Amino acid sequence: MFVALERLINLEDGYRGRFKVRGHELLLIVVDRQPILMENRCPHQGAPLHTGTLDGAVLRCARHGIAFDLATGRPVDASCPPLRRLALAYDGDRIGLDL
Ligand code: FES
Repeated sequence: MFVALERLINLEDGYRGRFKVRGHELLLIVVDRQPILMENRCPHQGAPLHTGTLDGAVLRCARHGIAFDLATGRPVDASCPPLRRLALAYDGDRIGLDL
């Protein structure tokens, strides 16, 4: 089942959208024209990631400062699990995910 999150026309660099889908907090961001969907929860200790800072394609969590490479989801400068990313799906002029 396709769950729409956003209209494609609204996706531009710098976009950040928060969504709740089946009890999961999700974060959709656009970097270098690439939409990336992940759980809005830092894999280190669970801080919300939507308050993190972006430097290119690196997202730094606001709580303890661990940086994650958005291309791979892996932490850049620490040992902790990678970001939990979700596959995106498309339907007409919408982006979302398949459940
Ligand atoms: S909770 Fe994100 S770096 Fe610790």
